[in-house]
Amino acid sequence: MYSTKIGGIGSYVPEKEVTNKDLENVMDTSDEWIQERTGIMSRRYGKKHEETSTTMAVHAAEIAIERAGIEKEDIDFIIFATLSPDYYFPGCGVLLQREMGITNTEIGALDIRNQCSGFIYALSVGDQFIKTGMYKNILVVGAEMHSMGLDFTTRGRNVTVIFGDGAGAVVLQRSTEEGQGILTTHLHSDGTYAEKLAMINPGAHGGYHANKMGEHIDYGYPDTEYGEMFINHQMIDHAQLYPQMEGQFVFKLAVQKFPEVIGEALKKTGLQTSDIDMFVPHQANLRISQFVQRRLGLKNEQVWNNIQKYGNTTAASIPIALCEAWESGAVKPGDLVCLAAFGSGFTWGSVLIRW
Ligand code: UT7
Repeated sequence: MYSTKIGGIGSYVPEKEVTNKDLENVMDTSDEWIQERTGIMSRRYGKKHEETSTTMAVHAAEIAIERAGIEKEDIDFIIFATLSPDYYFPGCGVLLQREMGITNTEIGALDIRNQCSGFIYALSVGDQFIKTGMYKNILVVGAEMHSMGLDFTTRGRNVTVIFGDGAGAVVLQRSTEEGQGILTTHLHSDGTYAEKLAMINPGAHGGYHANKMGEHIDYGYPDTEYGEMFINHQMIDHAQLYPQMEGQFVFKLAVQKFPEVIGEALKKTGLQTSDIDMFVPHQANLRISQFVQRRLGLKNEQVWNNIQKYGNTTAASIPIALCEAWESGAVKPGDLVCLAAFGSGFTWGSVLIRW
């Protein structure tokens, strides 16, 4: 068995900065409300018609590959985590391969649809392939172009103000040094409340799940024997094509599951909270991160938050924050790094890395 190290890391955020004040101009919200409830001051939006989850991922991936000291043709597997893919299908993994000019068809490309915990799941999957000796260099990315699919009216304010665009990437590499790299990964899911944080259209549900949850929602499906559609005019006219979230419900579970899943990773490795040199939480809400920090008894310098600048970038948030922490020198060789996420699904997980 090999172990999996982070060979290189990179990130990219688009140039356009959108402040809370900017959002005040398009919806009924306030800088004060957003900062008080989420800690967010601004976020970045990709350039329309030019940037996508894939194009942003390319920038992050190129940096990660260069820092890993390999060539793009050395990559033998791609794992792409996103909830805002360029296409309904095919996934972004193959688009990334094409955009990067990786012509080697011996490689595989896999998309991960696990939203906020997507990067944790992606690391865990990559780790298994490296450990067993199947692959040597796996490119793992998390990228999101949220700004293309948010409701910029007051109706969507509880969701829209939170999210931002960006991408992060790592190259996972084979290592023979014991005790180095990914020490343990822990994944969880509970589909009971799938609709509490979801974008259910376009989809092939035909209203099924919504009815099962006891709510009858009319999605305007045609009453014909064949010929249902993923998307129709009613969905557009009634704003049924946006993400939906019961914020408080999600918040309460998040603050419970983060400490639980981190505790699980520490227990598995025989380590203590005090052994953590850097905790990089999924940047869902600064208040969630601060709550978890208090529960774990970590000092400010042991936790990396950048949601203030970038908002919640879902699958991209951990690699962007981790990259920033590493670039600033806050993550050094030998450090114990803890990553954790909770979100839509619900899915959650943690990873411990000896850097
Ligand atoms: O990364 C994926 C995982 N996601 C999360 O972990 C998110 C977890 N949840 C949260 O972060 C918080 O629940 C939110 C930040 C989303 C919302 O904060 P909250 O304190 O739970 O607010 P709320 O949804 O309970 O709404 C409180 C009030 C409501 O008004 P009324 O009914 O009290 O009059 C909302 O309409 O705040 C109102 N509101 C807003 N006001 C100004 C909701 N969004 C906004 C807004 N600006 N953007």
